[in-house]
Amino acid sequence: MKKNGVPLNPGATSPRPSPPLRGGAGEGVACLQFGRFIMKNLFARIRPVKLTVAALSLGWVFLPYPASARPQTITPGEIWPDNRGQHVQAHGGGILKHGKTYYWFGEDRSQGLSRSNRYVACYSSTDLAHWTFRNQVVKISDPENLGRGWVLERPKVYYNAPTKKFVLYAHIDDRRYKFASVAVFTGDKIDGDYQYIKSFRPLNHESRDIGQFIDDDGTAYLIFEDRPFGFRIAKLSKDYLGIEKEMCLIPQHMEGGALVHYGGLYYVIGSALTGWSPNPNKYATATKLEGPWSEFKDIAPPEAHTYGSQSTMMLKVAGTKATTVIFMGDIWKPWTQWDSRYLWMPAEIGGGKLHLPEPKAWELDVKTGEVAIKKSE
Ligand code: GAL
Repeated sequence: MKKNGVPLNPGATSPRPSPPLRGGAGEGVACLQFGRFIMKNLFARIRPVKLTVAALSLGWVFLPYPASARPQTITPGEIWPDNRGQHVQAHGGGILKHGKTYYWFGEDRSQGLSRSNRYVACYSSTDLAHWTFRNQVVKISDPENLGRGWVLERPKVYYNAPTKKFVLYAHIDDRRYKFASVAVFTGDKIDGDYQYIKSFRPLNHESRDIGQFIDDDGTAYLIFEDRPFGFRIAKLSKDYLGIEKEMCLIPQHMEGGALVHYGGLYYVIGSALTGWSPNPNKYATATKLEGPWSEFKDIAPPEAHTYGSQSTMMLKVAGTKATTVIFMGDIWKPWTQWDSRYLWMPAEIGGGKLHLPEPKAWELDVKTGEVAIKKSE
């Protein structure tokens, strides 16, 4: 199945084509629009937006800042240079906060890597804006003999306190996406080399895109897309090497599952099954993970196709003054994957509503949790 020359993932009923590993064609219309938006804003003078009632009710504070100081700026859709000046390679990624440091793990799709191996990179940051490359924590060659074009996607890392192990989950598959399983790796050091342990189908169900969720009480969950049924939220076992039990099946055919617990409600986000092409991501809420879940609603104007991105995680930053929830999405470039970008924006969230604002450069104070969104003139 193809659209605009870009391979798509099928819906629940059709087989899934193999994605390109490297290449060179276009993206969806929304992505082009987003590109234009970025270009327009790139050359515009940036100034802070006005303090609004809506912002106050969301706990956001728009801070004045000197034009010269751009310390913690996150600019959606642009190249995100690490400490070496190289674009961060952490696609389909996840964040683990360990101590005071955030660690960002994701697919390393750098150019020039061996085509038979798959790689996961790890970066660290204390402000979520400046990222230091730590290590290629996974570099592995086809552990399940899945053949050419095998897939290792959407890595997520948990810390298991009882065993003192870092446990990395990823989606592992063959090029036709029929294996539909999770791979589990463990490591003794958060940014050390991870060892492959096994692959399995969680609760014996198909599992493609995975998401990670750690609740406020520290309980760890895996979200996984189960093509015939929808997507599931499952509690990890004591050592995190398996699944303890299913919390719920959400009978909606969605992937890129992400979850956050905010203001007494769980908010789940997912994208439609359109492969690398962006689509309108949606959210639902529940007071308990078991549900019942509300109906799904758009997180942004549907025609914006999530501003060209696809959800991968929601990160809650609880500061001394405000709690900010960051929507983390990937802007995929299927034919030049190493150049895929990130769309991180603070979500407008609360009272059962979640909205992804139009992407703009913004700053975050991780200590206070406050956000300053910049506005182009
Ligand atoms: C997307 C999925 C990505 C990748 C891609 C391949 O739907 O979210 O992680 O699997 O399909 O087509």
